[in-house]
Amino acid sequence: MPMFISKRYVDEAPYRCGACKSLKWDYCGAYLGLFVSLFKFIICLRFTNRQSPLSISITMKPVNPHNNSTVSIENSREIDASECNEMDDASQFSYDLVQDIANYLLNSTAHRPKVGIICGSGFGRLAESIENAIKIPYKSIPHFPVSTVPGHLGQMIFGTLNNVPVMCMQGRFHYFEGYSLAKCCMPIRVMKLVGVTHLIVTNASGALNDRYNVGDIVILKDHINLMGFIGHNPLRGTNDPRFGPRFPCISKPYDDRMRMQAIDIMRELGIDSEVHEGVYTCLGGPNYETIAEVKLLKSFGIDCVGMSTVHEVITANHCGIKVFAFSIITNKCIAEYESEETVDHDSVIEAANNQQNFLAELVHRLVAQIDSN
Ligand code: HPA
Repeated sequence: MPMFISKRYVDEAPYRCGACKSLKWDYCGAYLGLFVSLFKFIICLRFTNRQSPLSISITMKPVNPHNNSTVSIENSREIDASECNEMDDASQFSYDLVQDIANYLLNSTAHRPKVGIICGSGFGRLAESIENAIKIPYKSIPHFPVSTVPGHLGQMIFGTLNNVPVMCMQGRFHYFEGYSLAKCCMPIRVMKLVGVTHLIVTNASGALNDRYNVGDIVILKDHINLMGFIGHNPLRGTNDPRFGPRFPCISKPYDDRMRMQAIDIMRELGIDSEVHEGVYTCLGGPNYETIAEVKLLKSFGIDCVGMSTVHEVITANHCGIKVFAFSIITNKCIAEYESEETVDHDSVIEAANNQQNFLAELVHRLVAQIDSN
C-alpha cells in the first residue's frame, strides 16, 4: 500500500473498484492520479517551455537599494548607455568641476607650480621641507575627498623647493579607502588645470625581487596595471577630450629624461648601489599579499608591489603630464610558507621614515633639474 494513503481512509472508502475487485476505488483513483500527473509532467518537459506542474516557482522582486522598496517589473524601463556609467567613474568629475577646484586653489595662493608631487606613506619630511608653504586641508577644498589612512595628513601644499614652485599632495587617496579610481586620481587632473607639467610620485612598496632590501629605492621604469586586467581603470567612463584621448598610448609611462636625471643624482649622493630600476604593480589592498599571490607576482616579473601609483600615473599620462615615480622598499614580501615573518603598517612607515632625509634631498635636486630643462 502506498505510504501516503492512510489505512483508515482505505478501509472507510465506500466503493469497491469494478476493475480490480481486491482494491478499493481510492487505490485506483490514487494510481490514476499519479499516472496522469506523471504524463503531464513528461509532456510539459518534452514539448513546451512552460513550467512543470511539479516545480516550485519562487518570484524574486528587484529591490531598490536606496529605500529597500521593491520595484515592480511592469514599471521598469530600458536605460540608455549614459546611465550605465556608475556614479563612481570618471564621468562623476566633469571638466567644469575639476576647473572649479583648480580655480579655488589658484585663488588661494600666488604660487603657480609647474611641478606636482604626491607624497606617499612616510614622505612627510619632504612635504615639510617645502618653503613659503601655503597649506590647504583637503576638507576645505570643494568636492575633494579626504585622506583616511594613518600617516597621510591630508593637505595640499603650495610652495617652493629650491626656488621652484611646486604643489604637493601630502596624503593620497587609495582604492581600499572606498574611493573609486577616478576619485583617487581626480587631484591629478586638478594639478593639470593648475598648470602642472611634471609629476613626481612617491610610494612605499614590498619587494618581490630577491635582490631588493628594506630601505632600497626603486625608480619605476614600468608598471603592470593588474587592476586594469579586470577593468578597474581611472579613465573608465565618459572621456572628455579636453583631458586627453579616449584610447591613450601608455607605452612609456615614466619619463626617460627624469629617470636618467634621478639616477645621476643618486650617483652624486653616493647611494646608487641601493637604487634599482624596476617594475611596480598596484593591488587594491588593504591586506598585504598571500604567499601564493607573492609567488604569482614574482612569476610575472614584477619587482615590487604597493597599493597606489599605477592609476595616478595613467591619469597623468592621459592628460599629458610627464611622470617620475619611485618607491621605497619597506618590507620584503613573504614568499615561503615556512617563514615566521609578518608585514604590518607600522613597520612599513618606520622603514620609509628611516630614508626620509635622503628622499627629500633627491626630490629637491630633481625639481631643480626639471626647472632648468
Ligand atoms: N604589499 C602591498 N603594499 C605595500 C607593501 C606590500 O608588501 N609594503 C608597502 N606597501
